[in-house]
Amino acid sequence: MENWFQRQHTSPALRALNLILSLSLLCLVSGYVLPNIVVILSDDQDVELHGMFPLQETMDLIGRAGAQFNNAYTSTPLCCPARASILTGQYAHNHRTTNNSISGGCNGQLWKTRSEPRALPVLLAERGYRTFYAGKYLNEFRGEHVPPGWTEFHGLHGNSRYYNYTLLQNGRNVSYTDTYLTDLISDLAVDFIQQEVQWKRMNPFFVMLAPPAAHAPYTPAPRHEGTFAKWKALRTPSFNVPTKDKHWLVGSSKVLPNETIATIDKYFQKRWESLLAVDEMVSTLVALLNETQLLDNTYIVYTSDNGYHLGQFSQPFDKRQPYETDIRVPLLVRGPGIAKGSDIQSVVSLIDLAPTILTWANALIPSYMDGQSFNENLLKPLPSGINETYKRHLLIEYWGEGNYKTYNPECPGSPKDRLAQCTTDADCHCQDAWNNTYACVRDFQYKVDRIYCEFRDTENTLEAYDLKEDPYQMKNIAYDLLPIERALYGIMLQNLTKCSGHSCNL
Ligand SMILES: *[C@@H]1O[C@H](CO)[C@@H](O)[C@H](O)[C@H]1NC(C)=O
Ligand SMILES: *[C@@H]1O[C@H](CO)[C@@H](O)[C@H](O)[C@H]1NC(C)=O
Ligand SMILES: *[C@@H]1O[C@H](CO)[C@@H](O)[C@H](O)[C@H]1NC(C)=O
Ligand SMILES: *[C@@H]1O[C@H](CO)[C@@H](O)[C@H](O)[C@H]1NC(C)=O
Ligand SMILES: *[C@@H]1O[C@H](CO)[C@@H](O)[C@H](O)[C@H]1NC(C)=O
Ligand SMILES: *[C@@H]1O[C@H](CO)[C@@H](O)[C@H](O)[C@H]1NC(C)=O
Ligand SMILES: *[C@@H]1O[C@H](CO)[C@@H](O)[C@H](O)[C@H]1NC(C)=O
Ligand SMILES: *[C@@H]1O[C@H](CO)[C@@H](O)[C@H](O)[C@H]1NC(C)=O
Repeated sequence: MENWFQRQHTSPALRALNLILSLSLLCLVSGYVLPNIVVILSDDQDVELHGMFPLQETMDLIGRAGAQFNNAYTSTPLCCPARASILTGQYAHNHRTTNNSISGGCNGQLWKTRSEPRALPVLLAERGYRTFYAGKYLNEFRGEHVPPGWTEFHGLHGNSRYYNYTLLQNGRNVSYTDTYLTDLISDLAVDFIQQEVQWKRMNPFFVMLAPPAAHAPYTPAPRHEGTFAKWKALRTPSFNVPTKDKHWLVGSSKVLPNETIATIDKYFQKRWESLLAVDEMVSTLVALLNETQLLDNTYIVYTSDNGYHLGQFSQPFDKRQPYETDIRVPLLVRGPGIAKGSDIQSVVSLIDLAPTILTWANALIPSYMDGQSFNENLLKPLPSGINETYKRHLLIEYWGEGNYKTYNPECPGSPKDRLAQCTTDADCHCQDAWNNTYACVRDFQYKVDRIYCEFRDTENTLEAYDLKEDPYQMKNIAYDLLPIERALYGIMLQNLTKCSGHSCNL
């Protein structure tokens, strides 16, 4: 309650305005002080390959001081669609951002005219929140406008970069050369929160920070270079093991040459090193919230847009595949009412984030949102172990990227190969294909922990894994399932790929 009374405005006109707003808020929520909300969204950060290891402070200050989710998933393992899902609470087939290009809905016309005007920041602003964004927004964002709903906006032009970038800062393009982006984001957030305190604002705030780590080019801050020089990428049982067991793109991979393994190890180290600045950002923010006595009334969320693989099934380094490395994401939450050290088994998706945040803001969840609030699971975590109470069918959907322009002339082959993401550092191993298009149901129920996938390729390839028996997904059981089981999954996918709002959670 302290913050509420402290946060009075100094300018009389604004103060009156704030008071009216606050009073109406007070009436609506009958005396309850709306919490502040901070979301930290990292980029391409896996859990399976111990991607949280470099974030020791974050684990202490958020995870162990609150809740850690063991079963958090992205809805699409690719930056732009996943980020659009976080902002809208929708599956990609509904917000229609299906790849990282404008033509695939990434910061395209439909996004600007339909999704953005009703996205999370707008809904929070309507509840009286002051909203702040800094970092990577959508891959195709080029600073043409400040998206609606943000009080302060510092959005990165284009895809993740660590140096030499431009931000649209409250309507003005500002270019930086040698300022490490994660550090800049941290400083901007600190300034914002300090000003909120200094000006004694009565409104709660929503702060969303999207640092570039651990996305390529994985550049660590100079102070962290070499910290993990002695580490190698995790040798999972599938590391550099080609397999014919899977869909065409993965099935056609070969044993990787030693130079590529060395590159994978190097990237693994740099990814971890790039995350150390994020860890520092989190401790700086938590310390500031603590000093300003805001911590007890602030929810802090830490998550990533998708996971990552490094060497699994001889796939060098990327996301875009339906395996746990790529689809599982870290999710930590601390805040009012969340017991310290909660270990949460409930199955959640990034589409649940917006509904959950709206619950904290005591706002209505619009019916267009496909996700559901996981606030109840946070307040009353269930005992560990999967049983009926965790029953959930999550959709994972992906559209293989690629067109005639995605052919890389530095690599062998031709545009007609219908491949994409072929890079020389990966020995021209291509990480995406036009027919790498699929929908999966991540199936959790009593004694069941499975994934079932259908590919939209010429062979209608199926993949399924029993994650209880086979956590590294070495054996595709799709063709061993009983026909009735396969049929049921098929119908489930038909339902899920067309679902919207309520029908996504039947
Ligand atoms: C920022 O720069 C981009 C080009 O990179 C331009 O399209 C946009 O209009 C500029 N925004 C402003 C507010 O000047
Ligand atoms: C930024 O770009 C300039 C010009 O391309 C280059 O000389 C410089 O090394 C780059 N700075 C960093 C930190 O990468
Ligand atoms: C690749 O590395 C392995 C293990 O370090 C080694 O046994 C093998 O000889 C190397 N292959 C080549 C072609 O250098
Ligand atoms: C908050 O500050 C108090 C007083 O300085 C300190 O005892 C406590 O450990 C801090 N908590 C966190 C989470 O930083
Ligand atoms: C679910 O699991 C918990 C803990 O393992 C157990 O206490 C509970 O009885 C189980 N519920 C059902 C319906 O099996
Ligand atoms: C993105 O999706 C659009 C629409 O489906 C498609 O036209 C475009 O080629 C895709 N871009 C890439 C790089 O795959
Ligand atoms: C996927 O596309 C590649 C490249 O066009 C083609 O060679 C392959 O046969 C296709 N595979 C399936 C299963 O559709
Ligand atoms: C699919 O949707 C239909 C219509 O809503 C429903 O009756 C059916 O039970 C669903 N099937 C599965 C397997 O989810």
